[in-house]
Amino acid sequence: MKPNTSAFVALALLELFAIATMINISLCNGTSCIESEREALLKLKHDLRDPSNRLASWIVDNGDCCKWGGVFCSNFTGHVLELNLQNPFSPDDNEAYQRSKLVGKINPSLLELKHLVHLDLSGNDFQGIQIPKYLASLVNLRYLNLSEANFTGMIPHQLGNLSNLQYLDLGGDYFKLHADTVSWLSGLSLLEHLYMSSVNLSKASDSLLVINSLPSLKELKLSFCELHHFPPLSSANFSSLTTLDLFGNQFRGQIPSRLGNLTSLKYLDLSGNDFNSAVPGWLSKLNDLEFLSLGGNRLQGNISSLGLENLTSIQTLDLFGNDELGGKIPTSFGRFCKLTSFCMDFIKLNQDISEILGIFSGCVAYQLESLYLSYCQIFGHLTNQLERFKRLHFLDLLNNQMDGSIPLSLGQMENLESLDLSNNKLNGTVSEIHFVNLTKLVSFSANGNSLIFKINPNWVPPFQLTVLELRSCHLGPRFPLWLQSQKKLSILDISSTRISANIPREFWNYIFRYLYLNVSGNQIYGGVPRFDSPSMRLVIGSIFDLSNNALSGSIFHLICRGKNFSKNVEFLQLSKNHFSGEIPDCWMNWPRLRMLNLGNNNFTGSLPMSIGTLSSLLSLNLRNNKLSGIIPTSFRNFSILKALDMGENELVGNIPTWIGERFSTLMILNLRSNKFHGDFPIQLCRLASLQILDVAYNSLSGTIPRCINNFSAMATTDSSDQSRKIFYASLGLNEIVEDALLVTKGFLVEYNSILNLVRSIDISKNNFSGEIPVEVTNLQGLQSLNLSHNLFTGRIPDNIGVMRSIESLDFSANQLSGQIPQSMSNLSFLDYLNLSNNNLNGEIPSSTQLQTFGASSFAGNDLCGAPLSNCTEKNILIPEDENGSGNEDDDEDGVDWLLYTSMALGFVVGFWCFIGPLLINRRWRYKYCHFLDRLGDGRFVRKCY
Ligand SMILES: *[C@@H]1O[C@H](CO)[C@@H](O)[C@H](O)[C@H]1NC(C)=O
Ligand SMILES: *[C@@H]1O[C@H](CO)[C@@H](O)[C@H](O)[C@H]1NC(C)=O
Ligand SMILES: *[C@@H]1O[C@H](CO)[C@@H](O)[C@H](O)[C@H]1NC(C)=O
Ligand SMILES: *[C@@H]1O[C@H](CO)[C@@H](O)[C@H](O)[C@H]1NC(C)=O
Ligand SMILES: *[C@@H]1O[C@H](CO)[C@@H](O)[C@H](O)[C@H]1NC(C)=O
Repeated sequence: MKPNTSAFVALALLELFAIATMINISLCNGTSCIESEREALLKLKHDLRDPSNRLASWIVDNGDCCKWGGVFCSNFTGHVLELNLQNPFSPDDNEAYQRSKLVGKINPSLLELKHLVHLDLSGNDFQGIQIPKYLASLVNLRYLNLSEANFTGMIPHQLGNLSNLQYLDLGGDYFKLHADTVSWLSGLSLLEHLYMSSVNLSKASDSLLVINSLPSLKELKLSFCELHHFPPLSSANFSSLTTLDLFGNQFRGQIPSRLGNLTSLKYLDLSGNDFNSAVPGWLSKLNDLEFLSLGGNRLQGNISSLGLENLTSIQTLDLFGNDELGGKIPTSFGRFCKLTSFCMDFIKLNQDISEILGIFSGCVAYQLESLYLSYCQIFGHLTNQLERFKRLHFLDLLNNQMDGSIPLSLGQMENLESLDLSNNKLNGTVSEIHFVNLTKLVSFSANGNSLIFKINPNWVPPFQLTVLELRSCHLGPRFPLWLQSQKKLSILDISSTRISANIPREFWNYIFRYLYLNVSGNQIYGGVPRFDSPSMRLVIGSIFDLSNNALSGSIFHLICRGKNFSKNVEFLQLSKNHFSGEIPDCWMNWPRLRMLNLGNNNFTGSLPMSIGTLSSLLSLNLRNNKLSGIIPTSFRNFSILKALDMGENELVGNIPTWIGERFSTLMILNLRSNKFHGDFPIQLCRLASLQILDVAYNSLSGTIPRCINNFSAMATTDSSDQSRKIFYASLGLNEIVEDALLVTKGFLVEYNSILNLVRSIDISKNNFSGEIPVEVTNLQGLQSLNLSHNLFTGRIPDNIGVMRSIESLDFSANQLSGQIPQSMSNLSFLDYLNLSNNNLNGEIPSSTQLQTFGASSFAGNDLCGAPLSNCTEKNILIPEDENGSGNEDDDEDGVDWLLYTSMALGFVVGFWCFIGPLLINRRWRYKYCHFLDRLGDGRFVRKCY
């Protein structure tokens, strides 16, 4: 904002008076630059890099510096009054914004501009320097904007000398700036606009009292200031306050009722805090409110008791995420004739959608631009009232219980840009008529409904979508050809849509542009054709899921010939198809890959060396193919691998010792059912994070090293919680995940299943010999231990009873001897036990636990006692079912779960804000997503307003 004109005139007159006494200044020519100021500006420029050439006019030859870009002089004195060096682009246009920054330091010659009234340096990059103290000498300043300019450190209290300031903006540099006190603000008694958002003020709380000495204050923005205590605003001093933004702090308890006396407020943002009281009735006194956001708190009670009904000036009303708030939308909201944005996600409305549309179908319908009602327990049918909402851009009804069909009037919502109906119970058919006038639609989501799409294959849609999500709707059996008209699609989920067809070649040509592509769970057949991959720059990594189809043939072209496409992909799922041939050796084209799943195909040949170049890989799954040869040494280069599954192949050689030496983060190692031979390398003991070890069905031999008690992740008894934390921590998710259910678009992960993160060891069907090392009993978090079908001798460790977490124990088909240890009766979680076909003898210890197993668990020994026959002098051998196959399937399930989960979570790490609604601690998400949005890091973040 520029100083108002009357101030300008006053100043000009003052200067005129001064000038009258001077001789050597030409009055007739108006502006002419003061030489010393011109030099100062040139010095200023000299210290700044200017990649976008914004300062092109600042050159020596161009003598009159008053005509330079961004410079404004007094018409009378020629002194520079204004310096506007702010970034001309908004952070929303991230690329241009970054490119247009001036970079460097501020030359102190700036002080030469003694008459400066207006200084704007916002949106540049001063490379983390402190705000120069000497700015405080520019005492004529009325406007100072240093926001988002990469200043760091303490805000100099000298700024308090700028007693003419009306406008001060120090916000936007996320937590780089801080202040231990703001008492210096008392010197700025003319201040009208104070913006310090995202300055860390956690230590300055007490001094905020000083704000009361700023009687002219109109706008106060202190969002993300790490404040714990609500600023002590006294209403007496703030009659003129119109804007109060306290978004994203850490206030708890009740919203202070004194806010109710700030009756001039038009804009009040208290969102993203932790207020947890009932909503105060005093809101009704703030009749002028145009913007009210209480989202992302924990307010309680009933909407109708909020006293909102008289806020007839309201334009934006946001209560997002207050999931303890309930009650129906009152009919009085129908009088909010200026309402443009209404956001109630997660509030338990429990209301019929037609009732809600009815309330808003009067004057509101003419204005409303966004309506967010996801997770609101809304039921009933969508009705033709929809067509009244001609201005609506965003309609979000995700995760409710609406049923019935989508009315044809949808096609009349001509301004609709984004519609999300996912996870309802909608059915009926959808045709071209539903979209007839939706020329502006860019995002359409209807995942998880039973809608049947009956669309003419030759249809040319009136829109160009970027997001289309129709998981589990009925699209097939043909491939929806109209998709080919959608040249801007970047998120496409047509998984489980009953498509049974070939993917058209044309489709592959555009595959490079997807951020998220999921066509899994169909019957898509055919091969991957040769496709063109034009060059294209994507900033964000992408996810490709073609799994669970009937695709066949070689993947050579996909892996080796699409560099522009492959270089950004982070997740690649080709599992559960009929792909065959060798795995191509072009993995250097996939530098960002974090998850690679080629499992359950018919790949043959040896493992390509270049997979080892995937240094960001977290999870590699090659399970159930016909791969042969040894594990290439290049695999040593995986440094952050968490899951390695190469089970059910024909791999040979020794288990490489470097798996133990290099893969320090490994949680899952599955080499099951291959042709590995040799020893169990002692180096594997270093895998302290290991939770699942499966080397069953190989030809391994030798003894089990005593050091296996180093598997410390298996030794924790604090079963679920601890391992969950380890797991999340390993993915960088620490404190974030809180709720019991984690929903991402495309994934539904039942959280409870993760709680029981499996810990298991399966080394069955090998030739291991020697005794079972007693150290195994230190693995007290272990849930499943399978040593069956080996050559183990000696006794079952006596203290086996300390393995309290054990649910499944299989020692069958070995040569174990001696008695069953008494302590085994302490294994109270045990629900599978197989000791058959050993040389055990004596009486089965009696306990409620062991006697619940059938006789087959003990058969093929020299045992007696329940469940076998009573012990007599000569014990009777009861041969029974000798199949000691155990519960292998359970373990496999565990593995899949974890992989699945790790993928979903990995997905979350990179994309959870991007793809949105997760049910992960929604208050936190609210904060985080808005934060990201404000960071302007180029991601699409759903906003309520
Ligand atoms: C006035 O400005 C013009 C062009 O800007 C210049 O040619 C002329 O010499 C100036 N006159 C005086 C008296 O400075
Ligand atoms: C100074 O002169 C310019 C151009 O002649 C004019 O547009 C501007 O309004 C003048 N400013 C003041 C404060 O008189
Ligand atoms: C801020 O400055 C630091 C130090 O020069 C630099 O590393 C960082 O990239 C800059 N940040 C931004 C957002 O420009
Ligand atoms: C608000 O104003 C009313 C009267 O205008 C006064 O009685 C009350 O004490 C004020 N409340 C606060 C918290 O300042
Ligand atoms: C809203 O306004 C009506 C009429 O002026 C008044 O009767 C009612 O008490 C007001 N409601 C609240 C919550 O202030």
